[in-house]
Amino acid sequence: MKSKPKSTKRLVTGVKPSGFPHLGNYLGAIRPAIELQNEYEEAFFFIADLHSLTTVRNAAEHREYIRGVALDFLALGLDPQKVTLFRQSDLPEHAELSWILSCITPFGLMDRAHAWKDAVAKKLKDPTVGLFTYPVLMAADILLYQANIVPVGKDQKQHVEIARDLADKFNHTFGETFTLPEPSIPEEIASIPGTDGTHKMSKSYKNTIEIFGAEEVIRKQIMGIKTDSKAVEEPKDPDTDTVFKLYCLIATATEIENLRDKYLAGGFGYGEAKKLLANKYLEYFAEARQKRIELTKDLGYLDEVLATGAQKAKKFASQTLTTVKKKVGLLL
Ligand code: TYM
Repeated sequence: MKSKPKSTKRLVTGVKPSGFPHLGNYLGAIRPAIELQNEYEEAFFFIADLHSLTTVRNAAEHREYIRGVALDFLALGLDPQKVTLFRQSDLPEHAELSWILSCITPFGLMDRAHAWKDAVAKKLKDPTVGLFTYPVLMAADILLYQANIVPVGKDQKQHVEIARDLADKFNHTFGETFTLPEPSIPEEIASIPGTDGTHKMSKSYKNTIEIFGAEEVIRKQIMGIKTDSKAVEEPKDPDTDTVFKLYCLIATATEIENLRDKYLAGGFGYGEAKKLLANKYLEYFAEARQKRIELTKDLGYLDEVLATGAQKAKKFASQTLTTVKKKVGLLL
């Protein structure tokens, strides 16, 4: 049987190495992007290490997170033969385009960005200019590769829309240059809930479940998921419970139905549900966890993958930047 022809559209997505990736990153962006890697001729995955500079202040930790995200991508199934995996900071084109775009970015557009408004609302100590202009750098990441599709979680939707607005503005001002990107956000995984049961899963809420952490850490994070206070014997509503919601994202249809029945019948406590989730979780990620251990033994391979990725990405990025520079009059 002939395989389906690949889409000629371009896909781009990134993860910020400001900690170790968690289930929200995986389900919201990494898994969908890896699933799409076979469908697109050109897919770019990168480690957004210029973005993580807005929060990480320790160089040794930063290095560990950067390598960590790359290892995670590979362990989770990204195939460097099919896609381009690279580090944002390996390509100065990102920062350069970011500056050019910032010169057409209305101040008010940044001021209305959710992530910035959240930081201001939380009275973040000493908010930085980097945090304020974060969406412009993200627009540069996307537009440099003329991306059509950007698989992200809901929290990044506005940023992709800003990239689209800036592309449109640039095209109107200097002539047709950029493809207008679109976010790809499947509804069921748009916002993975955190273990606190109130916020989306996020490093900044400290409500995450790690993917590659030690087994005891993962079990502790899962056992700490907030539930209501219904007693063991009472029937429970699966649809409002975080343990059940997370289980649904990694279990089979039959397993989900079985758990639903247990919730509805009563006589089944949240403690047991959490143990079931923890076992499923470790089973779900067992292969990736093993693969990551193997990958860690040869960091030379990882460095090679990133160097090759940077070279491939550079071809696209430098071409776009040259066009942009011609359009704005920087190439004489
Ligand atoms: P980051 O590193 O915070 O998150 C990486 C991806 O994971 C998604 N995600 C979630 N999805 C669903 N539920 C959750 N609880 C959840 N938490 C995180 C995020 O939406 C994201 O898709 N600014 C970006 C990195 C970036 C980028 C880019 C992404 C930089 N440049 C260009 C796409 C294109 C960020 O901080 O993601």
